[in-house]
Amino acid sequence: MKNFECYNPTRVFFGRGETDRVGQLCVQFGRRVLLVYGSGSIKKNGLYDRVMHALRSQNLEVLELTGVQPNPRIDKVREGVRICKEQGVEVILAVGGGSVLDSAKIIAIGAHYHGDPWDFFVDESTIPGKKTPLVTVLTLAATGSEMNHNAVVSNDETQEKLAVVNPAIFPDVSILDPENTYTVPRDQTVNGIADIMAHVFEQYFQPVPETPLQDRFAEGIMTTVIEYTPRVLAHPEDYDARATIMWCGTLALNHLLECGGEGDWATHRIEHELSAFYDIPHGAGLAIVFPQWMRYVVDAIPHKFAQFAERVWQIERNGKTDREMALQAIERTKNWFSEIGAPVSLREVGIGTERLEVMAERATQKGPLGSVKKLFKEDVLEILKMCL
Ligand code: NZQ
Ligand code: ZN
Repeated sequence: MKNFECYNPTRVFFGRGETDRVGQLCVQFGRRVLLVYGSGSIKKNGLYDRVMHALRSQNLEVLELTGVQPNPRIDKVREGVRICKEQGVEVILAVGGGSVLDSAKIIAIGAHYHGDPWDFFVDESTIPGKKTPLVTVLTLAATGSEMNHNAVVSNDETQEKLAVVNPAIFPDVSILDPENTYTVPRDQTVNGIADIMAHVFEQYFQPVPETPLQDRFAEGIMTTVIEYTPRVLAHPEDYDARATIMWCGTLALNHLLECGGEGDWATHRIEHELSAFYDIPHGAGLAIVFPQWMRYVVDAIPHKFAQFAERVWQIERNGKTDREMALQAIERTKNWFSEIGAPVSLREVGIGTERLEVMAERATQKGPLGSVKKLFKEDVLEILKMCL
């Protein structure tokens, strides 16, 4: 196990009815609130009215930034920063999925920076030491953004999708009320589940030996997601199923699993190129790339894949080698993605061979990817071809 620092300052309120606390939680930071949300789902399902009621009951003044889109764009972030600066916003409230939360995180630090917020994605040293307090109400189980220090934003001008990873952007408070995820459509529920599994894979398939507790945390999340996915798909308003998937999503990427190990993250970098160039949902891209990445790197850590086969998919040894166990588990993983309704090939999302080369080039422009096996441009190109 490697040395590590473990830090997470986000206060989480989890459970049915916790949404109604939002007014009290915001008022402790200030009276002038910027409410950030997406393209209307919270208006359709009544969450907007509920949140506004809670804010008004505390006499808060509410400004709005609406229309944050999936694979959020830097232009919308710039608009939010402008409002914060011009109107003296004291607290930011993000109500939505990862795209809304990530945008709000960058707005929160952008409000204290004299330049353009895209600078944070290009040069980390520009991130200011101060941020506007950030409260979130999560509506989709997927990214873990509600309790982590990552934010991913796209730039249409440069066709880039980049991440900021910095302790300055942890939310101060996050409300996780599973009932707010009842209306997530089936395809987005599946995309979210694929993302959750992918986050666990990134931190489980890694080269550092002797991380037994971390492995079992990860296997606990994977087996729980596998068990509860059919239930949440069959009964979108099953409280305990939604609650379980939601908590799995948070724990999958709140920095706990990575302690003592060295996460790989190559698949995420490759996927970010797919969604930068083709605007496909993040979770869909991960379901396509992950099984092929696994095939490509399996010989670097066959024992770990064999452990995955035994403990997660309950594949019996019966004299099989680690490699044979691994290949069976990888096939099972791909089939599972397919069974729950996720795409498993680029063709299924309308992507052909045209831009594979440029995506491989972009993914590796800052150096090779991954910790399990260093992936150079040619490797990434090969993986993308395997995804066709
Ligand atoms: O825009 P609205 O109307 O809200 O609709 C959204 C959107 O169309 C809808 N939705 C959300 N909650 C809903 C709902 N529809 C009905 N009922 C609800 N309760 O779902 C759609 C997708 O939303 P989005 O926020 O884009 O999804 P997700 O949470 O999967 O976020 C994906 C983004 O996060 C980034 C991804 O790259 C992508 O840009 N990631 C962020 C990470 C992080 N911050 O740690 C890590 C991840 O690996 C990932 O890269
Ligand atoms: Zn992800």
